[in-house]
Amino acid sequence: SGSSQGGRGALIVLEGLDRSGKSSQCARLLSFLQGKGCQAEGWRFPDRGTSVGQMISAYLANESELDDRAIHLLFSANRWEKRALMERKLLGGTTLIVDRYSYSGVAFSAAKGLDIEWCKAPENGLIAPDLVVYLDVQPEKAAERGGYGGERYEKVEFQKKVGEHYHSLRDSTWKVVDGSLPMEVVEEQLKELAMSCILECQSKQLASLAW
Ligand code: TMP
Ligand code: MG
Repeated sequence: SGSSQGGRGALIVLEGLDRSGKSSQCARLLSFLQGKGCQAEGWRFPDRGTSVGQMISAYLANESELDDRAIHLLFSANRWEKRALMERKLLGGTTLIVDRYSYSGVAFSAAKGLDIEWCKAPENGLIAPDLVVYLDVQPEKAAERGGYGGERYEKVEFQKKVGEHYHSLRDSTWKVVDGSLPMEVVEEQLKELAMSCILECQSKQLASLAW
């Protein structure tokens, strides 16, 4: 167990295009960690449960129209409104497995043509992840997966641009996993990355994103 010795939890983020397998892998990783007695929770962004999240959800469902910059700032606000709770959980020893984070915020908005530095600015000061796993899947392959096409950004041409922006965001916390491999293989790779991250970050201070 990561928490009983007093170490902090790890902030582990999964990123990738729509239908890259993030949500399934987050669930598998979470139940693996909990099964090992590790204090862990699954989170996701957008968090559609808040009033900001409901505005985002309506926008994604094409039920409302918003200026590109306005929706960008709502996605960011949706992370900011969770920052304090996130910090408390991590310092209390809970590892958070998070389905999307600031990298989605920047990659998707920049793919619309917004200036990337402008997109990064409101993310500064949010908690920096200890590990970002990017599930790498070709946009065409993702589009063949079930449930694709229901929401605003689920279009192959757009997702290609998102992928290019994700690429430019890769930093030292990133690990790229081939998301086209069988689910069980991806799952094993994730378990190993997560376990070593959880061990390592017990002696590391929480940091803030500084883009
Ligand atoms: P979801 O399918 O993971 O719930 O995400 C909904 C969509 O929102 C997905 O196409 C990615 C996009 N998105 C952004 O544009 N900005 C963000 O900050 C986040 C978290 C997601
Ligand atoms: Mg989706």
